[in-house]
Amino acid sequence: MALIIDGKKISSEIKDELKAKVSMLTRKGTRITLAVVQVGNDPASSVYVGNKKKACEYIGIESQAYELPEETTEEELVSLVEKLNNEESVNGILVQLPLPAHMNEDIIINTISPAKDVDGFHPQSVGALSIGQKGFVSCTPAGVIQLLKRSNISMEGKECVIIGRSNIVGKPMALLMLRENATVTICHSRTKNLKEVAKRADILIVAIGKPYFVTKDYVKEGAIVIDVGIHRNENGKLCGDVDYDDVLGIVSAITPVPGGVGPMTIAMLMSNCVDAAL
Ligand code: GUN
Repeated sequence: MALIIDGKKISSEIKDELKAKVSMLTRKGTRITLAVVQVGNDPASSVYVGNKKKACEYIGIESQAYELPEETTEEELVSLVEKLNNEESVNGILVQLPLPAHMNEDIIINTISPAKDVDGFHPQSVGALSIGQKGFVSCTPAGVIQLLKRSNISMEGKECVIIGRSNIVGKPMALLMLRENATVTICHSRTKNLKEVAKRADILIVAIGKPYFVTKDYVKEGAIVIDVGIHRNENGKLCGDVDYDDVLGIVSAITPVPGGVGPMTIAMLMSNCVDAAL
């Protein structure tokens, strides 16, 4: 029987640990504030931003919401981020992505002070991760590491194959797995013989952004499968990048969608916010 890795339960444990930590910090007079900036009203972004605010409330982190109209200029957004950089009471800054098409996301991300970059997207944060220095780590891949560690799954010496090479998930995921002493392969849409490469994995991490992409043809018997994807299928049901029902019979552990990696992203964001105040 495969272990179903319960991301909802593990994320709740992390949030409860953080709540206790924040309560202790509050007693000592340290307040933590996260500024959340949303431009426009993309419905998915509004749901994510709402969930981030709720998590802050639960843990005892103050959240400031900046809801800017779609027509906001890049210069105006840069000015707001600079103002938040200079505000001592603000510990973390999060600019919800995607931004409207008339803005250059790189310019905005580069404006966020690395000391407040709780998303871990700033080039300095990414650079620090790649050479093993201190800095904020992107929340979703950090959440995957926690899922594995808290399920007593060792990464040391294991063959880890990551499908997907995004800046937010695939690349930092590879660096984190390397830090855990895994042997790491990153695959992508141009990889030759993808099924054969994926089948080498003891731990297969899928972040390709295509629903039901990974079937049992990609999975070695006994592998651990982590599904980072989230989509709505034609029946309106949430599903991942992995065809869960197809692979369930051959894996030793797997994350479900929903309730796997998803809830971990916010838990790790909260963890980064607490670290930002220390
Ligand atoms: N859009 C989708 N996921 C994220 C995230 O983790 N951080 C930000 N800032 N925007 C996102």
